[in-house]
Amino acid sequence: MTLSAQDTASTGTHPMRLGFIGTGDITRAMVRGLAGQGHQILISPRNATIAAALAAEIPGVSIASNEEVVAGSDVVFLCLLARVAVDVVPGLPFRTDHRVISVMVDAPLDKLRHLCAPATDIALTIPLPPIAKGGCPLPVYPASPTLEALFGARNPVITLESETALAAHLAVSGISATMLDQLLTAAGWLAGHTGDPASAEAYVAAMIRAYLPERATGGELAGALRNLSTEGGVNATLRAAMARAKADMVKGLDGFSARLGLDKTAQGKG
Ligand SMILES: NC(=O)c1ccc[n+]([C@@H]2O[C@H](COP(=O)([O-])OP(=O)(O)OC[C@H]3O[C@@H](n4cnc5c(N)ncnc54)[C@H](OP(=O)(O)O)[C@@H]3O)[C@@H](O)[C@H]2O)c1
Repeated sequence: MTLSAQDTASTGTHPMRLGFIGTGDITRAMVRGLAGQGHQILISPRNATIAAALAAEIPGVSIASNEEVVAGSDVVFLCLLARVAVDVVPGLPFRTDHRVISVMVDAPLDKLRHLCAPATDIALTIPLPPIAKGGCPLPVYPASPTLEALFGARNPVITLESETALAAHLAVSGISATMLDQLLTAAGWLAGHTGDPASAEAYVAAMIRAYLPERATGGELAGALRNLSTEGGVNATLRAAMARAKADMVKGLDGFSARLGLDKTAQGKG
């Protein structure tokens, strides 16, 4: 795995011709994240409401048919539901020089090579909605200089060594709701004592943010945890009381193994 360095990544990306097939939630976030860099961005007309809003909001964004999006782009983002893609993608005019970036979590590389032929430069990534403002981790397989050039200046691009590793990242992206739920529970508990829900949420959000490294390179989270391990302190006491939550998380993640084709023997590698 390699992690791009935000401060050294290209910030002066030359404008590119980008196309998005499928204009739903994740396309909206990605296109917003690309705004203001001079790219020509073609988006498909579905979803019509989101497509119209993006075209009105962001200079350089135009709406075109799926065929025109592919024909008029050098980089094509596939942002459909995978079950829709099998019907829509094969008829599109892909070329050998296209660079394709798929965000479709249920469409493996083999299948995409088939759907996007004769294009062969295909990468898979998992953007999250915060990509609209930046700071969103972008795991990718295989390496994609194009993804790095487009998003690397504002988002850490994490290049992986296997499709299985990407699937494991997808599984772990599922902890977000649990973490947010725990933070909300804590904020609600705090508000029950202070009578001020807004301040309680502000406190909890800022506190956790303060412990997170700007860009982890390995060891920062463990270091922060060590510093919060004073015996008898509120952190160590609560952590011990909630020890089962940790095992529950690992069990829940393991539960994705069959669904995501995860190979337990690969743990600890790459
Ligand atoms: N949302 C996330 O946080 C997230 C994160 C990582 C990966 N992904 C992946 O991104 C993909 C899209 O997710 P999403 O959340 O953006 O879903 P979504 O909001 O449902 O977007 C799917 C889009 O595909 C459009 N579509 C349907 N049929 C089409 C056709 N024939 N031609 C062109 N467009 C068509 C839909 O238009 P209509 O609304 O008009 O049907 C909609 O705009 C999925 O594969 C998902 O796994 C999503």
